[in-house]
Formats: sequence, structure tokens, C-alpha cells
Amino acid sequence: MQGLRKVAIRGTGMYVPPRVVTNADLEELMDTSDEWIQQRTGIRERHWVDAGTGPAHLALEASLRAIEAAEIEPGELDAIIVASLSPHHEFPGTSAFLQDMLGLSEIPVMDIRCQCTGFLYALNVGQLYVASGQHERVLVCGAEVHSTGLDMTTRGRDVTVIFGDGAGALVLEPSEDAERGILSLHLHAEGKHAKKLWVEAPGTVFSPRLTEEMVREGRIYPHMDGRFVFKHAVTRMPEVVHEALDANKCTIGDVDLCIFHQANLRINEYVGQQLGIAPERTYSNIQRYGNCSAASIPMCLDECVRAGRLEPGDLVLMAGFGSGFTWGSALIRW
Ligand code: COA
Repeated sequence: MQGLRKVAIRGTGMYVPPRVVTNADLEELMDTSDEWIQQRTGIRERHWVDAGTGPAHLALEASLRAIEAAEIEPGELDAIIVASLSPHHEFPGTSAFLQDMLGLSEIPVMDIRCQCTGFLYALNVGQLYVASGQHERVLVCGAEVHSTGLDMTTRGRDVTVIFGDGAGALVLEPSEDAERGILSLHLHAEGKHAKKLWVEAPGTVFSPRLTEEMVREGRIYPHMDGRFVFKHAVTRMPEVVHEALDANKCTIGDVDLCIFHQANLRINEYVGQQLGIAPERTYSNIQRYGNCSAASIPMCLDECVRAGRLEPGDLVLMAGFGSGFTWGSALIRW
């Protein structure tokens, strides 16, 4: 982007609630099996909140870690962006609750509703804030509490076994090195498939927005056409990765670390094969956390940073696909 400042990721953080829910625990609730879940998705366990904890609480913990890693004080932040499909309350947005929990006031806050691609959309907005000079330090966070909105019976087993709760965060700042920072973001959406993965109710198109019948019929839970979603994910992710590589005149061989959204390990293995990326250059944590939607990519990034997997100058590729449908990629020179 000509004339705009290069933007770098300064600090990262993640947090999951302490309660671990294994596949065996789910076998107690519904007709499923550890074998089915691991074979189809790669997931062994996930973390779920206890009652009273919402996404803003998880975002707070992740954000404090990111702020500490960035070696700044919360008061030095200029804006907060939170991506979440599971808001703390109907309104205001999760970002407003997070701002207050961080002890901040008056700085702008914004919620992004782009589901599993939400983090990439939020990163794009944060990048533009900093690149344009409007803000110096922006907190970008992905946070989800799925567990309180899942169907814990056999009826919902295809979706319920996939999702976990968690949060990931990072701080954006102007880069001190013109060669390093976010190189590009490519985002897409295709709303005609909105109902292939969605939660119908409560909905403002209904009056009243929620009825006992909707609850009884399970219309308050996520519904997914799993095979349809799978097919689109394995097509769109390679597409948008190539878009990022082509825009930066790079090849997949130049990528040092590839972080895909953690929807299903099989999707990511398939996409990785299609792209021809060496498995050791990818990172997954879905086995331990399940699909944490907007939080998955920043959670992976934080684990990689803290494990020392990234060297200055490394090329980091991120790609995601989710409900909407939405999909996108980011290329970053670390
Ligand atoms: N445990 C046991 N059996 C289950 C199950 C579970 N948790 N969930 C579904 N099944 C059953 C189905 O009822 C079906 O049984 P049937 O053949 O007797 O009708 C069978 O398993 C196959 O179901 P299907 O939905 O066709 O399985 P699948 O091979 O497509 O795998 C997903 C299901 C969800 C793992 C897979 O479709 C997927 O990963 N889709 C994409 C998901 C995704 O990316 N979502 C998030 C995007 S952000």
C-alpha cells in the first residue's frame, strides 16, 4: 500500500479457560466416540468455560499477555478491535466490556462479526488504523465462548464436538523496519452460503426474537452442512493463499510458518498437501483446543512466538475460512 506506514505485530498473547473437556467426557453427553472425533477432526480435547465467564474475560487474559509481551502499559493503547461470533452480550460489543476490564476509557472500540475469518478481518482494520497514522497502538483480539451455545445432545454432535473456548490477542504498531511487518491481507465473502453454517435464533427478523418453540427445535444452536463447508474450505483456502503469494511475488517455498484456521485438522492437512507446504512449516493446536473460531489463528501465533519458532525476517502465512462464507489470508514478514 503506497504511502502508508508498514505495520508490525509487537506482542502476542493467548488464554483458554482451565476446564479441559476430553472426547471421553463428550461420550457421556451424546452418542459419539473418541475414535470418530479424532479420525474426522484431529481433536482430542478442548477447554470450556464455567458459568459466568464470557469472551471478554478470556480476551482480557489474552490481551494482558499481549500487552506485557509488547512491553507497553494498557494505557498506551489507542484502539481495541475484537473479533467474535459469540458476543459477551447481545449488545454492546465485546470490545466495550474488554475496554472497561482493561481499565481504559474513551479510546475507540469495535467488534468484527466475520466468524472464523474474523481475526483476519480485525487484523486488516487494525493494520489500516496504524498504517494510515490514525492510531499508534491497536489491540486486536479474537475471543470465543462457544460452549454455552452448543447443543449438548446427540442432535448437535456434528457441531458440538468441534468447538472450543479461547482467546488470542496481539498489539499492532508502526514497524521500525520498512522491510518487516504485514505485507498484505486478502479478504473475501460469499453471503449466498450464509445458512450453510449459522445460528438462526434469536433473530431480529422474528418478533419476538426468541420463542420456546425455537429453543425446543434447537434453532438456537449452530447448524452446519459439514460436507459443503469442507468442500468450500479446501477450495477457498488454497485460492486465497495463492492470491497472497502472487501479490508479494513469493512462492510457497519462501514461507517459514503457515498458520491455518483450526477448523479441522483434516482440512488443513489436505490444504497443506494441495499447496505443497512441508508439514513442519505448519502449526496446529486444534488437537488441544478444538475450533476456537476467531481466536484460533492468534492462539496459534502466540504459541509459535513463545516456543521460539519465529526468527526476525521469517515469512508467516495465515489463512482462514468460516461461516458467511468468509475467507482470507495474511502474509507477514516477521
Ligand atoms: N460422533 C459420531 N458420529 C457423528 C458425529 C459425532 N460427533 N457427527 C456426525 N456423526 C455421524 C453422522 O450422523 C453420520 O452418520 P450416518 O452416516 O449414519 O448418517 C456420519 O457421522 C457422517 O456424517 P458427516 O457429517 O457426513 O461426516 P463428515 O465425514 O462430513 O465429517 C465433519 C463431519 C463436521 C467433521 C466434516 O464435515 C467437517 O469437518 N466439515 C467442515 C467443518 C468446518 O470446517 N466447520 C467450521 C468452519 S469454520
